[in-house]
Amino acid sequence: MVQATMVMAAEGLGKAFRQGEERIAALDGVSFGVERGTFTAVMGASGSGKTTLLNLLAGLLKPDAGRILLDGDDFSSLKDSERARLRRRRIGFVFQDYNLLPNLTLAENVRLPRLLDEAPEGAEGWLAEIVEFLGLGGRLKHLPSQLSGGERQRAAIARALAMKPEIVLADEPTGNLDLRGSTHVCELLRRLCRERGCTVLAVTHAPHVAIHADRVLMLGDGRLLADRPMSDFGDAEQLAIAYQRLLAPVAEGRP
Ligand SMILES: Nc1ncnc2c1ncn2[C@@H]1O[C@H](COP(=O)(O)OP(=O)(O)OP(=O)(O)O)[C@@H](O)[C@H]1O
Ligand SMILES: [Mg+2]
Repeated sequence: MVQATMVMAAEGLGKAFRQGEERIAALDGVSFGVERGTFTAVMGASGSGKTTLLNLLAGLLKPDAGRILLDGDDFSSLKDSERARLRRRRIGFVFQDYNLLPNLTLAENVRLPRLLDEAPEGAEGWLAEIVEFLGLGGRLKHLPSQLSGGERQRAAIARALAMKPEIVLADEPTGNLDLRGSTHVCELLRRLCRERGCTVLAVTHAPHVAIHADRVLMLGDGRLLADRPMSDFGDAEQLAIAYQRLLAPVAEGRP
């Protein structure tokens, strides 16, 4: 039973990929709920299924098993066009590999979502504020190839926020940033939750990033190993120790 405060829920999610003869179970029986206005960190080793999970939650992939609920309604069984419309209206997605269009400037890239849908009220001022906050104000005319890796990453974050989404799904949004840059992005994500009631799920390998979240999900080999409030861990160091302990049996079980 999904509680009313749950904006998003996964029920028994499963997804496998076929590569030639081989079948890779990327996710297997993953269930959890996400409360509105909260920041959830998703941790797990490389290949544990984090990107697959985010793609499923955004409706970019369809599950083989289980379902995704958005405000209690089955999101995964909608028609492709309806799912895409809901996603564009409600979800901001930060891609792990940024997905910036190479022939468009940074300013054009971050405004791209507005070509498809009418911008919400105040979106122009809002986007200008986000771009400044992310330190991109001086790079607006640059093409992606003229930006540093960290600048590209921040541009991908700005674009995901362009339509004032109520849900933000971010795939390693700080993977290319130094400690100061990561902390700054975490501050932004926190502010979105606190000031706008946004719901954020962010994938990260880094305990110093995850510690900013309210809750942490830990994945190992496609299974949910932990779903705990961050208050269970005192600081980033304790979180790192718990994370390593949890992942060790999964890593040992590998060939
Ligand atoms: N399109 C695909 N075709 C075949 N296998 C895939 C595909 N996408 C993902 N996989 C496999 O599914 C598993 C989970 O991949 P996923 O990208 O979700 O991992 P991840 O946790 O995001 O890893 P990373 O931290 O490296 O980004 C991996 O074994 C991967 O090789
Ligand atoms: Mg990934």
